[in-house]
Amino acid sequence: MPSPGRSSSAFIIAFILVSGCQCADKLLVFLIDGFRYDYMDDLQNLPGFKEIVYNGVKVDYMTPDFPSLSYPNYYTLMTDMAAVYYENIDVEGHHFGPGSEQVWTAVRSLDTAFQTLNRKIKEEALEDKLNVIMFSDHGMTDIKWMDKIIEIETYIKMSDIIKLMDRGPVVSLWPKPAKLEEIYTALQAVQNMKVYLTEEIPGRYHYRRGKFVSPLTLVADPGWFIVENKAKLPYWKNGTGEPQGWQHGWHGYDNEFLDMRGFFLAQGPAFKKNFRAGPIRSVDVYNLMCNTLAVQPLPNNGSWSRVEFMLRNSADAVQPMLLYSCVLAVLVMLLSAQI
Ligand SMILES: *[C@@H]1O[C@H](CO)[C@@H](O)[C@H](O)[C@H]1NC(C)=O
Ligand SMILES: *[C@@H]1O[C@H](CO)[C@@H](O)[C@H](O)[C@H]1NC(C)=O
Repeated sequence: MPSPGRSSSAFIIAFILVSGCQCADKLLVFLIDGFRYDYMDDLQNLPGFKEIVYNGVKVDYMTPDFPSLSYPNYYTLMTDMAAVYYENIDVEGHHFGPGSEQVWTAVRSLDTAFQTLNRKIKEEALEDKLNVIMFSDHGMTDIKWMDKIIEIETYIKMSDIIKLMDRGPVVSLWPKPAKLEEIYTALQAVQNMKVYLTEEIPGRYHYRRGKFVSPLTLVADPGWFIVENKAKLPYWKNGTGEPQGWQHGWHGYDNEFLDMRGFFLAQGPAFKKNFRAGPIRSVDVYNLMCNTLAVQPLPNNGSWSRVEFMLRNSADAVQPMLLYSCVLAVLVMLLSAQI
């Protein structure tokens, strides 16, 4: 999650050329931060998205990892690839909420860039050479700071806490060991959130075995926001010069919560045309990216069976060839900086 308030960056489209390699097509990847799966529902008013949907593969939605933050996995997975990252939809979603005019404006700006992309692909005759994958890391939900805040200092003595990390949907707590039981009991009484000892964290989150998991993990119900006290809320500079603005959207909640779902689209020679697929999970994308580049994926938690049917030639695709020395050259084209 980028810190809300960071200025929106120029929109960049990169064409990734795999040079010196006969075995794979080119791959262009877009990571669209905070684009909820349903932001493109009004396809009639999004001609850029519409063309991609009819020309390629669209899944119903993509379930993020827990906590539903910005692609914790992709930083590592993407080290060998080049990608375009677009954050403005996430920023507007935090500031104004997922249903806001500002988010819709940002979605339409992205659509305009995709129209340009579609045109360029045709002009450069890249339809049969370039695979394009677009997806988001998570969705966004409305939050209401006037009435859905959980101030934990109301329930526990902060002097009993060695360390508190984060605020919002998931908060990690390191109580003084002698106080663990007392703090745990006090927090169990708090409404609209759950408190877990490490071993109690639901298995479906795939979270409790993480390296940095704290003795206590607090998870807010959708729309609720956990913070030490209101002074520590992450206000943003809403034109006042001072951080006073309230946030109206957030993510990081239970990854099965509908509003946390992201989107996934793909087009190009590797993919079927005008193909609708059921939901996938964000961990599945890595295998697809490797496959289109003919790179052997490293061991990972993605499911091949959830994605292989999207490929035009799924029988051949099952055993990706090992790629030895493909060099990725990146040609970056600045297309628009209109936001
Ligand atoms: C900034 O946000 C605060 C709280 O949401 C609001 O009261 C104020 O009017 C906003 N100021 C501007 C200039 O938008
Ligand atoms: C993910 O994959 C790794 C390596 O294959 C494995 O060690 C780990 O247990 C898996 N994690 C989950 C949550 O399935």
